[in-house]
Amino acid sequence: MLTVTSVLLALFTVSSAQQLNFTHHAVLDPNEKFQLNWNPAADGSDYFTFECVVATRGWLGLGFSSNGAMAAADMVIAWVDASGNPQISDRHGPAQGNGYPPVDSKQDYELVSGRKNDTHTIITFRRKQDTCDPQDWKITSDTTRLIWAYNDQVPTSADDISKHTERGVQSAQLVNPQTKDGMATILADPSTVTYDFRITNVTLPTDKRTLYWCEIIELPTWNKHHIIANRMLVQKGNERYVHHLVVYGCGEEDMSEHLGKPSACFSDTQVFSPMQKCTDYHAVWAVGGEDFVYPSNMGAPIFGNSKQRFVLLEMHYDNPDLTPGITDSSAFRFYLTEQLRPVETGRLTMGLTVSAVELVIPPKQQRFTNYAYCPGKCTSRMTEPINVFTGLLHTHLLGVAMRVRVIRNGEEIESEMRDDHYDFNYQTPTFLSKPLVIMPGDDIIVECTYGSMDRDTMSYGGFGSDNEMCLAFMEYYPKRNLSSEDCMSFLDPEGLLEVLGLKKEEINIGPQ
Ligand SMILES: *[C@@H]1O[C@H](CO)[C@@H](O)[C@H](O)[C@H]1NC(C)=O
Ligand SMILES: *[C@@H]1O[C@H](CO)[C@@H](O)[C@H](O)[C@H]1NC(C)=O
Ligand SMILES: *[C@@H]1O[C@H](CO)[C@@H](O)[C@H](O)[C@H]1NC(C)=O
Ligand SMILES: *[C@@H]1O[C@H](CO)[C@@H](O)[C@H](O)[C@H]1NC(C)=O
Repeated sequence: MLTVTSVLLALFTVSSAQQLNFTHHAVLDPNEKFQLNWNPAADGSDYFTFECVVATRGWLGLGFSSNGAMAAADMVIAWVDASGNPQISDRHGPAQGNGYPPVDSKQDYELVSGRKNDTHTIITFRRKQDTCDPQDWKITSDTTRLIWAYNDQVPTSADDISKHTERGVQSAQLVNPQTKDGMATILADPSTVTYDFRITNVTLPTDKRTLYWCEIIELPTWNKHHIIANRMLVQKGNERYVHHLVVYGCGEEDMSEHLGKPSACFSDTQVFSPMQKCTDYHAVWAVGGEDFVYPSNMGAPIFGNSKQRFVLLEMHYDNPDLTPGITDSSAFRFYLTEQLRPVETGRLTMGLTVSAVELVIPPKQQRFTNYAYCPGKCTSRMTEPINVFTGLLHTHLLGVAMRVRVIRNGEEIESEMRDDHYDFNYQTPTFLSKPLVIMPGDDIIVECTYGSMDRDTMSYGGFGSDNEMCLAFMEYYPKRNLSSEDCMSFLDPEGLLEVLGLKKEEINIGPQ
């Protein structure tokens, strides 16, 4: 009997050693104890395959949640039992609050393999993108809040799951047509060059948790290149503090007076002034974000334009425990080529003009939507259709959902440029599975929905993180020959005040 068991175990080890190759990877916690690899459903398959690599010898849990809480979340718990056999259990969060997750009446998670060594448990499973089980989460191209947990205690059965000792939440884009292969090709290509936009040694404050750090950088006088990929290089050891980084172009603005004078982006009374002028985003990374790789025939121009000399780096640091003595010099690495690619991409911004009199959100609203328009009258000035292939939807802390709607001849066309689970703390470009075509004459509506239940006062548009924005940054091809492209809604401020029954001197709008 003993022999049979060993043979079975040996067989199992062999089959699980045939490694699946995963195209996607995310680290779900700052200590890199919970790592996730996955393959999105592709090539006619409905199945997503996930591999959890977790620093535990007990159980691990992964969940899909609309807001990061356990309540009503879809969860799967897996472990390798005392006999060395992997086990899996499809479960869901309690209807309200946190608590023991009941087992689903229908089991939709299929174990592929599982093993553990002295330090880690590695479980691979698959599930359908849409299991049609109301107790499961339908995976969409929206941001997904992944909740994770583990405990070193090995369950004796699916009814013996002890409470987690570690837990957390991390957003991810699970349906993401980009793969790691593109990056591997770029890294292997000898004509690839890199340029790092590095933060110069900022010391995190110990009196407040959040720091937005702004720094103007002068571009080198290189020949024109195409940006073909980018990757965030977080300084080793600072993974838990580096939250997001945006590289904005400053157009043709002269920012030389700000060189060598990095500072906080916002204080109680003012905003670092280049924030208003440098708004053409080149790249953005947020915690949990993967490398960004352009399609192999496309590139975004950079350098080689003596009038566009400056960029603004905007870094968000988070130091919740106010740990002293943290200094950071993280960088955003751009992968570039001088062998210009056939298709050049451009960026187009739509949304509401950033101003306190353009955007007003009342307090205590579950969902409150603002609309920005780029009417056909404006898009008809384009001489040819454009193809939006990626973009970034952007609000501040109150944002819960955003979408770009396109109306052609009175009919709405399908747009993947949307996110019903927006997470300010996970700003990552949206990847479209097929380009969103904007034709001359199309009406565009940018919709921004906010949740203000925990605010006691009005929130207004502005650059501070407590102020709000409603912007869709879209990247498209073929690039048009314009230095700055946007189509912004602009409300009549007097009209807005009248609707609100306010006089100008009655509004207190915070830093602008
Ligand atoms: C995984 O990648 C390796 C190396 O590229 C390859 O040899 C192997 O066949 C791949 N495995 C599968 C299951 O595709
Ligand atoms: C256990 O597995 C993990 C994940 O594959 C690996 O990183 C680690 O080095 C392994 N540890 C040992 C002792 O083999
Ligand atoms: C960064 O700043 C810290 C504190 O001001 C200083 O001790 C350290 O030497 C600096 N490091 C570099 C590389 O400049
Ligand atoms: C773009 O416009 C500039 C200024 O109008 C012009 O000099 C340049 O030749 C144009 N480039 C192309 C590719 O049309």
